[in-house]
Amino acid sequence: MPFYKAISINESTTAYFWKISEDVTDLFRAVSLKDVTLFRYEGMKSESHQKGFLAVRMLLQHLGYTDYDLSYDEQGKPHLNDGKHISISHSHEFSCICISDSLMGIDLEKCKDKILRIAPRFLEMKHLENLSDTEKIQKATVIWGVKESIFKIKNEVGISFPEHIFENEFDVAAGNCSAELHFNNQIEKFTIQFYNIEEYIFVCAFPK
Ligand SMILES: CC(C)(COP(=O)(O)OP(=O)(O)OC[C@H]1O[C@@H](n2cnc3c(N)ncnc32)[C@H](O)[C@@H]1OP(=O)(O)O)[C@@H](O)C(=O)NCCC(=O)NCCS
Repeated sequence: MPFYKAISINESTTAYFWKISEDVTDLFRAVSLKDVTLFRYEGMKSESHQKGFLAVRMLLQHLGYTDYDLSYDEQGKPHLNDGKHISISHSHEFSCICISDSLMGIDLEKCKDKILRIAPRFLEMKHLENLSDTEKIQKATVIWGVKESIFKIKNEVGISFPEHIFENEFDVAAGNCSAELHFNNQIEKFTIQFYNIEEYIFVCAFPK
């Protein structure tokens, strides 16, 4: 399947999803790439990474952009040359990009039970109390996505998920939550919306 769907997050923010069913050669033939992108692509070790990377370019082309409109800063954060904000995530057979007039960060993550093994390393375990195993996996995946998304907004070296980003208590059914970044003697607040996409969680965070 090519273009999968768009989610309108607010009046100036939309997320776009590609569900990859093409093989890597078909994707490669369908996109035009800058030399620097080609160099990165050729250095990727796994075909699945290559596919996710090319599917992002398919999404750009779907929206009238090309790889030539996208650049990366030294930390790896992507930027569009028309001044709009972009955030990128890929997970298994999905790639997604979010484009907005406002600063935001996104993350797409497949729900897997192994997240519960690493949960104590990145979230407050009291937030998983009194939930079924399925609900625990979903909530832990949301919290992971929240932290990745905030990390992508800040793009600063030294931010640790357990030490600096704190999720406030929330109900997964609500589809939204909030979190705080305590870093460099400052507290910054974020609002978050999240969605189920098949067996994935998609998270989009905005600075408050
Ligand atoms: C950079 C990072 C956020 C990427 O997240 P990921 O889940 O591995 O991968 P995703 O597919 O969701 O996102 C990858 C995209 O993020 C974007 N990205 C990379 N570095 C970025 C940065 N510094 N700021 C914003 N966006 C960034 C890129 O667009 C990248 O895709 P592309 O290079 O193909 O264009 C992640 O690897 C990372 O460094 N996280 C923070 C480190 C950390 O604290 N980890 C866990 C501690 S418990």
